[in-house]
Amino acid sequence: MNLKNLLTEQLAEAFAAVAGEPVDPVVRRSRHADFQAEGALALARRLGRPPREITAEVLDRAVLTDLCSAAQVSGPGFVNLTVADDLLGSLLSGMAADSRLGAAPADAPETVLVDYSGPNVAKEMHVGHLRSSIIGDATVRLLDWLGHRVIKANHLGDWGTPFGLLIEHLLDLGESSAAHELSIGDLDSFYKAARVKFTADEAFRQRARQRVVALQSGDEETLRLWRLLVAESESYFLAVYDRLGVLLTKQDFVGESHYNKMLGPVTDELDRLGLVTDSGDAACVFPAGFVGRDGEPLPLIVRKRDGGYGYPATDLAAIRYRLQDLGVTRLLYVVGLPQRQHFEMVYAVARQAGWLRPPARAEFVGFGSVLGPNGKMLASRAGDSVKLVNLLDEAVARAGDLARQKNPDLDPATVAEVARAVGIGAVKYADLSNDRTRDYVFDWDRMLALNGNTAPYLQYAHARIQSIFRRAAGTPTGGGSSGGAAPGGGPISVTEPAERALALELLDFGAVIGTVEQNLEFHRLAGHLHAVAVAFNGFFEHCPVLRADPQVRDNRLALCDLTARVLRQGLYLLGIAAPNRM
Ligand code: ARG
Repeated sequence: MNLKNLLTEQLAEAFAAVAGEPVDPVVRRSRHADFQAEGALALARRLGRPPREITAEVLDRAVLTDLCSAAQVSGPGFVNLTVADDLLGSLLSGMAADSRLGAAPADAPETVLVDYSGPNVAKEMHVGHLRSSIIGDATVRLLDWLGHRVIKANHLGDWGTPFGLLIEHLLDLGESSAAHELSIGDLDSFYKAARVKFTADEAFRQRARQRVVALQSGDEETLRLWRLLVAESESYFLAVYDRLGVLLTKQDFVGESHYNKMLGPVTDELDRLGLVTDSGDAACVFPAGFVGRDGEPLPLIVRKRDGGYGYPATDLAAIRYRLQDLGVTRLLYVVGLPQRQHFEMVYAVARQAGWLRPPARAEFVGFGSVLGPNGKMLASRAGDSVKLVNLLDEAVARAGDLARQKNPDLDPATVAEVARAVGIGAVKYADLSNDRTRDYVFDWDRMLALNGNTAPYLQYAHARIQSIFRRAAGTPTGGGSSGGAAPGGGPISVTEPAERALALELLDFGAVIGTVEQNLEFHRLAGHLHAVAVAFNGFFEHCPVLRADPQVRDNRLALCDLTARVLRQGLYLLGIAAPNRM
């Protein structure tokens, strides 16, 4: 159990005895003591008594001897708690002996589906897809580590009316040069050229329309051309994923086309359930509680006027398939906030249809936009949307320059490895360390800074520990950074303020993981790792490690090791590499 819960439990008993009813002691970390409990304030208001008096009574009754070395009334009626060094030591030793670092696996593992990335065939991936890929990847890594069965679902935009013009454009270019253009990632020019023709050229428009009909009726030749577009785009996307270091593979592409054959049956089922309304010639569902600006009910269009199905119908088919065929109980949609209402409507229909029932639930893991330095949506100098690969290349190049400046002795292979880890890590961390529901400004200098809440700062703290172990290995009693218990094996003890400060941060890891498992607020994990790194740097500044007496030194090496493991595991969960030297 973590420290905060241990303290809460003990204090809750004393509070209940004083109040004659259950009271939350409201324990939190504090700058004035290790922890502070402020439950007496609210209770005092309820009982109409002075809070300090209540706090004093609580302290009389609380059995804190095993937990705290000091517990005092402070300020208007807080309890200031100083955790006993022995307790810190034994909790740290337990954590060091635990390969999971105190993050308990889920006690009821479930089947979770993460719908993320979702780029569109023959169309450039934009920064929205970057955010979805990064946040989705962290989600997959975390839930998988906690023992859930995780299904990665890359809902590729590979179907619908645009394919009429895309296929016709492919034929105009000739198959092999079109394939070449797509495979080198010139998706944007491909898509735009097709669009331009579609607007300008009536004959092309005709062909495109006929092509859609052919595609939907299953014409073999049309399907072959369609598959070509999909395959070239997929291999391009896979190259981006590889560059980005996200876990998505070819097997995870389950595009919109996958649901094609289910669209009719799903519509029929909704109809049988009495949920479908014919409005004009379109078939719509009006889920309860969704109204437009003028108060009129909002439709989810299931079948369009021309008889075709679109994005909403596909998501209805997908949610039914995921719940009924895949047996998913937690559905996570990692998509930009502008699509929130669409998904809330899809969930509402799924509930009304009886597909989405507890314990199954669907969560919209929404995110804000990436802004340029001018505070507007991130765009290239020409005003186009920024091409993702260019962004990643620039990140790696900039990180490489910094690595060479900082450490001119690094050999080229190491520079390349560090550049990739730091460059890509910085981009991901800039995203994940911000509250995902907000917009954030994409700022190279800030994300690559060696100081501050950045990937390089955390990676550097980790590399610094590895270098301590390399130096320790050259001295008589030194061990290497282990994956297990304390080097030297003995229990860890902490006495110095800087050791205690580090201990208090480290011991929070398991609780933070448990919170993020629920709310998928990765900036909380990022903030925790940053706090660990800050505490480590404070410790390293105040407490000599290799120059200390053997016993103290082993103990401090154990603290170093545990810090490195927390940083490494935490960064891994964020999808960020932790190089051993920088
Ligand atoms: N392809 C969509 C887009 O680019 C994202 C897909 C999100 N997932 C879903 N099930 N609709 O906006």
